[in-house]
Amino acid sequence: MARYGGAAVLGAMFGLELFARDRGGFRLAGRAPAGRGRRIVILGGGAAGLATAYELGRLGYECVLLEARSRPGGRVWTVRGGTTETEAGNPAQTCRFDEGLFLNAGAMRLSHHHETTLDYCREFGVKLVPFPHFNEAAFVHVDGHPRMRIKEFDTDMRGHTAELLAKVARRGQLDGPLTAEDREKLIEYLRDEGRLTKDLVYPRAGDTKLEPTFLDHPRGYTISPGTDGGPGAPTVPVELEALIQAGYASMHTIDHESNQQGTMLTPVGGMDRIPYAFAERLGPVIRYGAEVRELRRGTDGGVRILYADQAQGGVVREVTGDFCVCALPPHLLARLPGDLAPATLAALRSGVPDNAGKIGLQFKRRFWEEDDEIYGGRSITNQPISQIYYPFDGLNTAGKGIVVGAYHFSNVKDFDAMTPAQRERAMLEQGAKIHPQYPAEFENSFSVEWQRVRYNEGAWMQYGSEAEQDAMFRTLSQPDGPFYFAGDWLTKLVAWQAGAFVSAHRTIAALHARANA
Ligand code: FAD
Ligand code: ALA
Repeated sequence: MARYGGAAVLGAMFGLELFARDRGGFRLAGRAPAGRGRRIVILGGGAAGLATAYELGRLGYECVLLEARSRPGGRVWTVRGGTTETEAGNPAQTCRFDEGLFLNAGAMRLSHHHETTLDYCREFGVKLVPFPHFNEAAFVHVDGHPRMRIKEFDTDMRGHTAELLAKVARRGQLDGPLTAEDREKLIEYLRDEGRLTKDLVYPRAGDTKLEPTFLDHPRGYTISPGTDGGPGAPTVPVELEALIQAGYASMHTIDHESNQQGTMLTPVGGMDRIPYAFAERLGPVIRYGAEVRELRRGTDGGVRILYADQAQGGVVREVTGDFCVCALPPHLLARLPGDLAPATLAALRSGVPDNAGKIGLQFKRRFWEEDDEIYGGRSITNQPISQIYYPFDGLNTAGKGIVVGAYHFSNVKDFDAMTPAQRERAMLEQGAKIHPQYPAEFENSFSVEWQRVRYNEGAWMQYGSEAEQDAMFRTLSQPDGPFYFAGDWLTKLVAWQAGAFVSAHRTIAALHARANA
């Protein structure tokens, strides 16, 4: 979370039993009651609202889902040729990508342990492929310095740090309580890990005169081994001081966070295959273009929801139910007039929406593959664009491709006040420092700054502290009369669909128990 906007919310993941867990295999026993309690109004057709409607429908509840947009998915949004969006304060954009090309403007990857999400993909037949997140062939770049391959940087850093630690250990200057025998085992490990010589030195000049097992050089080669029967010419390491002084060493080159570890997965053809799979099954349960305007308690103890029917010129309609599950962004929900209790409204307002932005760049030629041997994964830079993601699909084909030319979080403010055209220029300029092919190969772009996107006005919620999020959770995990709440922000899996699903499951279980009590 620190990286996604500086919030200090994460303690031990799922440390509180209060929070739902991503276990998969969700299924509730029983059926909806025959009379009162079976009519449910669901607000919002993102992952949380869709899962709520689907699961309650499976139990026999009569659901109506109100979604303001004309598509399902909310922050699961795949942009293709023809997609239009008008951000607050900006001119409209219409995507001009070629047929078959797309940008996952919101969610783009799934963790191998997001069991709930993977369960739905299995159940709906949503085909998944690996999402290559980490790629040693991609670049790490510090403005004003030459780009390095991640494999070069990683090999050098491992080598230098292993050398330092091994030498300290050999001199007996370790703080740790290791026996002499254990110390030797540690040194042996460091020798392997850092590819050190017998004298515990990380070879500075790409030394090839090492043990046969070291004949493979993870840093890479200027002349490949095998071409002339010889060992090839390895690239030359960069000194530790240079890596540190340039700032490469302060970049995150490897993601070891549990949600970002391999194998990551993604649906073939775009992340929106997941919400559309729900939508196909829900059919007329979803009312699109239904912008919720007011949340009222009915005289019968149920709910009365007023919404503007955008397809009919904004005419205001009413839908009633026994219960309502609110799966809207909490800061937007809190703005709606209605009968939510003051404590509920205060809890809904306790988080702050955090921004993130992406741009999809269509290129004529897959130069990152053809010229640079990069197949998927990402390069990182200290420039505002922050990250470049290469396509996971169409690998090694002769055609075009969409590169995610920027994926920045809320620490970057540079693009806040820019129009899409200005962003495109700035992002291309920055990206060209890593890939000089940009100007010759670029065709068109589509960009998103989530804080300007209607019906979200933010990428995800951040909380000032874990205690603040826990306090919010304690209030909103309880219903406010007939109103229940769901969304990724009600879990510790903020900014993951998995969070939206487990939150929906928790809410459904509570509602189902009450309806049948
Ligand atoms: P939302 O998707 O926000 O759904 C809320 C819904 O309410 C929307 O459909 C909205 O249109 C609707 N709505 C709002 N106001 C109204 C109104 N007045 N009336 C009616 N409807 C309304 N997750 C991953 O799993 N993997 C990733 O790689 C990943 N990357 C991400 C990258 C970005 C840039 C972003 C923004 C998100 C990413 N996520 C990722 C997070 C994931 O998209 C969310 O956690 C998940 O989609 C949240 O679902 P939700 O239903 O809680 O909220
Ligand atoms: N979960 C989001 C991502 O993977 C933040 O980028």
